[in-house]
Amino acid sequence: MPARRSRGLFITGTDTGVGKTVVAGAIAAALRRRHRDVGVMKPIETGVGTQGPLDAISLCEAAGATDSLDLVCPQRFALPAAPSVAAAHEGRTVDLEVIRAAHAELSRRHAFLLIEGAGGILVPIRAGYSMADLAAEFDAPLVVVTRASLGTINHTLLTLEAIERRGLVLAGVVISHGSRVISSSDRANLAALRESLGARLAGEVESLPAEARVPAGAIDLDRLLAG
Ligand SMILES: Nc1ncnc2c1ncn2[C@@H]1O[C@H](COP(=O)(O)OP(=O)(O)OP(=O)(O)O)[C@@H](O)[C@H]1O
Ligand SMILES: [Mg+2]
Repeated sequence: MPARRSRGLFITGTDTGVGKTVVAGAIAAALRRRHRDVGVMKPIETGVGTQGPLDAISLCEAAGATDSLDLVCPQRFALPAAPSVAAAHEGRTVDLEVIRAAHAELSRRHAFLLIEGAGGILVPIRAGYSMADLAAEFDAPLVVVTRASLGTINHTLLTLEAIERRGLVLAGVVISHGSRVISSSDRANLAALRESLGARLAGEVESLPAEARVPAGAIDLDRLLAG
């Protein structure tokens, strides 16, 4: 039986600031090199200031997507906090119907849809509804972005356990080194993480100089799409 061809990926991470947008941009670029039409979505962005939803804008640039920001990022909040918290701060709740409608429209328009979550997989969106529930609704395999520094083994394995427990599909894990140079103890730690991930490891993005692009080949696109 041929492997199921995915029509999208949901990019989550072990934490906020781990490199989800960087990795999503690299996946978008890799898809474009294969002449795949790719749409992007950041369903909920928090910490949105006067410059607008910067993650959503960055994803659109990477994918060459021209959809309106209202579709790409239908729920935006100013407070840089978990979605439910940022919404409550404004006396609001996250509007799931608006998100579902935008997702349906983007899925109709594009052959492939890359979705970036906010924070990690169990971040609350509304009472009793987390990012994992949104990923389940969207039915897209998950890419877990994880940092390279100390603590990452625990964060990564906890995230993978949460994904497995919920019966969600893992496309793969991508390690992003972030902007700081990795210490020698981090390197030893990282070797143990790679080993425990085995075939689930789908890529590693070394520390990039400012404005540099992720090198082609850093992420195994075939591995991510095989899920
Ligand atoms: N491999 C890397 N090399 C250099 N800088 C990196 C790397 N990965 C991430 N960064 C930097 O770390 C910061 C956080 O990355 P990014 O915005 O992709 O994280 P995120 O998980 O999308 O965060 P958020 O939870 O806010 O959406 C950014 O300034 C980004 O440029
Ligand atoms: Mg981001």
